Amino acid sequence: MEQEQKSSASAPQDEPIIQVRNLETYYGTRKILHDVNFNVAKGEIFVILGGSGSGKSTLLRHIIGLLNPSKGSICLFGQETTELGEEEWDALRRRMGVLYQGGALFNSMTVGDNVALPLREFTDLPEATIGIQVRMKLGQVDLAGFEDLKPDQLSGGMKKRAGLARAMAMDPEVLFFDEPSAGLDPIAGAGLDDLILKLRETFGMTIVVVTHEMESVKKIADRVIMLFKGHVAAVGPLDEVMQNQDPMVQQFFERRPDEEKLDPKEYLEYLTAGGNREL
Ligand SMILES: Nc1ncnc2c1ncn2[C@@H]1O[C@H](COP(=O)(O)OP(=O)(O)O)[C@@H](O)[C@H]1O
Ligand SMILES: [Mg+2]
Repeated sequence: MEQEQKSSASAPQDEPIIQVRNLETYYGTRKILHDVNFNVAKGEIFVILGGSGSGKSTLLRHIIGLLNPSKGSICLFGQETTELGEEEWDALRRRMGVLYQGGALFNSMTVGDNVALPLREFTDLPEATIGIQVRMKLGQVDLAGFEDLKPDQLSGGMKKRAGLARAMAMDPEVLFFDEPSAGLDPIAGAGLDDLILKLRETFGMTIVVVTHEMESVKKIADRVIMLFKGHVAAVGPLDEVMQNQDPMVQQFFERRPDEEKLDPKEYLEYLTAGGNREL
């Protein structure tokens, strides 16, 4: 009996939070993502890595349901999403928090009202409870006491953290970050990395981060997917991917500036030749 309870309790934990299969997508007639496959496990910090224009943001927009793939499957919390209607998507989106590049705060509202926004829109909580929630979320991003300021009065790093407090307002199970350190000085960027680590440690959150900053990847990533012009160059634990001898992968880690010069067709031929062909 005890045995049975144990196995049924552990089953959902083994199920990936995100499962992407054979994902393909086009902008118009141009193919942007080619046969993308990966899972994200509960409690994992998963990083989507790649040079500018490699398809990272496009992939993220598919996962959060802003774009629909041309082909393939995306499961969130075990639920296939590619056929969902808007109402079902709304329910799913409440389980996910997204921090967009600029923080996307409303400048006319105080920081506290920005964080309260999803709570006022999606819940019937009384104002007193919302006030407590707002102070709690701001505390979690090290902005305790800043609720009455306007976003314009905050530094870049503080704005991002306020955006994060709003993304966390509904207690999401997964948090998504698109280029969290973009536009920040290195110290503020590192502060955000620390915060990401703290959120996973304290709340066991599952976190997906899009970035091209290797310093940040080395600090936070458990597993990564590396995109190259819409193709998956590598996927797996960070230390394994860093050992990958594929020249494209190594090129990214070594930050060689000629990445854009690699021709995807040639690169694919190289791959199909088992890596024996000179690039
Ligand atoms: N809305 C769009 N319409 C057409 N092409 C787009 C659109 N958004 C992005 N792209 C193109 O798709 C490719 C991938 O873009 P993106 O996902 O933004 O890359 P990344 O986030 O890795 O920099 C790029 O070549 C980009 O120019
Ligand atoms: Mg992008």
